[in-house]
Amino acid sequence: MDEYVSKGEGTLSYAESDLERILLSKEEINARVTELAEQISTDYADYESLYIIGILKGAFIFLSDLARKITVPHKVDFMALSSYGASTESSGEVRIIMDLRQPIVGEHVLIVEDIIDTGKTLHYLQRLLKGRKPATLKTCVLVTKERNSLDVATDYLGFKIPNVWVVGYGLDYADTYRTLPYIAELKKEVYQSG
Ligand code: PRP
Repeated sequence: MDEYVSKGEGTLSYAESDLERILLSKEEINARVTELAEQISTDYADYESLYIIGILKGAFIFLSDLARKITVPHKVDFMALSSYGASTESSGEVRIIMDLRQPIVGEHVLIVEDIIDTGKTLHYLQRLLKGRKPATLKTCVLVTKERNSLDVATDYLGFKIPNVWVVGYGLDYADTYRTLPYIAELKKEVYQSG
């Protein structure tokens, strides 16, 4: 895959030998994030406010790019959820590491998430936030895997990808590779060596 790895800004040379192939280039991601932001800005043009909730850690880069392209007034808050730890298998138990700073009653809420894998995290989160009585609740996800077994609904979706372990643009394996500028498939031997 070396020919795909840009030597430019954001490249982490330590990671290159761990990657199988690039699935989504920096340019493809940027173009799609722009489209999503335009769609969201159009859809929320008549709303008084938009309350964006980024799901840490994985969504931190997607959220920062998306939110800066959204042209309607909005607030940003974060929740931190975790279910994978240092494994590539979901524990099945979603833990709230950090909750929102304030209630969302009556707010027009948009969840911003990096990835749907099994779907357990978003399934849990959508139910949780619905119970907090926002005026509306929508979801924006950058990538979804084909194995989204819970068939979680999204209102805005960037890309569908195959069932492989991906890293970069916020996505990690064991908390590493998050700052790669693209989304790449991680070589199996990197996470199956244990
Ligand atoms: C990752 C990712 C999503 C979730 C998706 O979070 O950021 O939140 O897994 O997987 P699922 O659809 O199978 O639930 P993780 O628990 O790894 O925490 P992180 O965001 O801090 O990396």
